[in-house]
Amino acid sequence: MNEIFRPDLLDGRVAVVTGGGTGLGLETATLLARLGAHVVIGGRRLEVAREAAASILAAGGSASAYQLDVRDFSEVESVVAQVVDQHGGLDILVNNAAGNFRCKTEDLSPNGWRTIVDIDLNGTFNCSRAAFAALSASPHVGRIISIITSYAWSGWPGCAPAAAAKAGIQSLMRTLAVEWGDRNILCNSIAPGAIGDTEGAKRIHEDAGRTDHELSRVPVGRFGSRHDIATAVAYLASPAGRYVNGTDLVVDGGRQFSFGKA
Ligand code: HXC
Repeated sequence: MNEIFRPDLLDGRVAVVTGGGTGLGLETATLLARLGAHVVIGGRRLEVAREAAASILAAGGSASAYQLDVRDFSEVESVVAQVVDQHGGLDILVNNAAGNFRCKTEDLSPNGWRTIVDIDLNGTFNCSRAAFAALSASPHVGRIISIITSYAWSGWPGCAPAAAAKAGIQSLMRTLAVEWGDRNILCNSIAPGAIGDTEGAKRIHEDAGRTDHELSRVPVGRFGSRHDIATAVAYLASPAGRYVNGTDLVVDGGRQFSFGKA
């Protein structure tokens, strides 16, 4: 799988992946490291982040782990400062950390709403804001890549806070693409569809008994893989993505346009 890209594609880059200890974040971190980047895994559970970094090191990559709750701006600032201090800069920020659960909106508490918006939307602001100066100084053109979902624009019955927060992230990336385009930073979103073997798929599809229904909505007839998303991140982080700014790269097998066959 790693032969898709040249193995030195991201040599010399430093990348932070939030929520990089598991799932899509870990797959992304692993691929970026395989392509030559030093990867900083940020996670709320330090032991999980450390395990992820150790697996990358064992595979011959370069990685480090930090305790990081994206809701805490001062913690985010401190991690960015340490990364710049220890690795000489920061080139790529992947805003991947997210929370989600299925809950009817009439049953959702204000704190449940706030918690998801805080992790997804406020967390993305916190990380982007804290990383601005370092990314702006990147010799490779700084990149911010935020993971959203096409439900950001379709709405997401049963997951209202996540859909609203992801729509906010999409808007934020578009705004920053313009504000920071001449500050040496490119800002884009990636919208994964139904990706198998992730915590999100388990919570939102499997646990709700919706796996077959979800699969029937994917025109290409399969769930996405974590690698499908990691390669999209690698593309946007690479020199191939140097003129891509303010876009939403949808990686969903065509699901967003699947309304049933005539
Ligand atoms: C209703 C819930 C709930 C649920 C939590 N809450 N789970 N309400 N249904 N299933 C409410 C709680 O009752 C509480 O409100 C508030 O949310 C905060 O809950 P805490 O457990 O105190 O929050 P916290 O410990 O900060 O945990 C955050 C979390 C948790 C989001 C709730 O699940 C988490 O850490 N998740 C991270 C992993 C994750 O979600 N991965 C999936 C991401 S997938 P009250 O009012 O009681 O105080 C994704 C895209 C999915 O984002 C794409 C799918 C295809």
